[in-house]
Amino acid sequence: EKDPVTVLVTGAAGQIGYALVPMIARGVMLGPDQPVILHMLDIEPAKEALEGVKMELIDAAFPLLKGVIATTDVVEACTDVDIAVMVGGFPRTEGMERRDVMSNNVSIYKAQASALEKHASANCKVLVVANPANTNALILKEFAPSIPDKNITCLTRLDHNRALGQISEKLDVHVSDVKNVIIWGNHSSTQYPDVSHATVTTDSREMSVSKAVSNDQWLKTEFIATVQQRGAAIIRARKLSSALSAASSACDHIRDWVLGTPKGSWVSMGVYSDGSYGIPAGLIYSFPVTCEKGEWSIVQGLKIDEFSRTKMDATTNELIEEKSLAYSCFNE
Ligand code: NAI
Repeated sequence: EKDPVTVLVTGAAGQIGYALVPMIARGVMLGPDQPVILHMLDIEPAKEALEGVKMELIDAAFPLLKGVIATTDVVEACTDVDIAVMVGGFPRTEGMERRDVMSNNVSIYKAQASALEKHASANCKVLVVANPANTNALILKEFAPSIPDKNITCLTRLDHNRALGQISEKLDVHVSDVKNVIIWGNHSSTQYPDVSHATVTTDSREMSVSKAVSNDQWLKTEFIATVQQRGAAIIRARKLSSALSAASSACDHIRDWVLGTPKGSWVSMGVYSDGSYGIPAGLIYSFPVTCEKGEWSIVQGLKIDEFSRTKMDATTNELIEEKSLAYSCFNE
């Protein structure tokens, strides 16, 4: 039997946490033959609820689950962690100033970054889910300078999967027959869901999504808006945010990162920009990536037309603004 992998989930008593931890314990994230140890972190007011989640994990008798820690102590939570999924944070609620939200996230991510840096495994992989996801990941990176840039990512796979879902609904094909959509930029409503390189397989023939949909107007307006605003639509319908799909997509993100993407297809991940496609280095930006042997690389050489350029720049500008807001909170 393989040695267990230790996975940290912060904000584990929350809604995404509740959907995510059983998926991890069932092998959805790391595969059906990979034992796991779960470290669950939350804050004092959620302590009892977190204990309840731990009780349920025990009750579910997962064969792959070799240990569970439920704690409000950041150091205990981060110790020996191989994979860290950061779901806990301070999301913006109605009436709150952006600056106050950012300032809260800076202090949370600063503390957790230091704990990860000091106590996690040397090659720990980090996925930030909590919003503002890209900028929280950047803050974490700033305060954990010894963790390699390549190990710090944020979740845009949910948006990627939403784009696949919308195309599959439109064409009435199975979602697994659609591939290579791209989410560029921020995990926010400025993100750019791009299908210009996407393909669909019908009757064992591969063709471009733009040709198959054959409605450029829809692809450039309604499709993009639907994906950008899907999170808000779920909140309206459920009165709660998208927890099941966020948890499932977080598993997809880590699984593909660790085990590799299938040949000929890519996924979207928020990663530290190296300047590819003219995106300023030093932002955490969602790019198309392929993964092999536990490392992602940005897909190179895709043609970017003028429409795409404008959309990619708009989301870049938002990230630059978020970054300067975050940095202005660093010394508070
Ligand atoms: P939730 O409010 O149900 O859960 C958040 C949990 O984090 C709570 O249990 C809270 O006590 C905990 N928490 C707060 N501060 C913490 C800290 N300093 N350390 C550890 N835990 C802490 O929220 P939900 O629905 O689970 O969403 C979590 C986050 O994920 C939100 O920021 C949300 O905006 C974001 N999100 C991101 C998505 C993505 O695709 N990137 C998709 C959906 C949600």
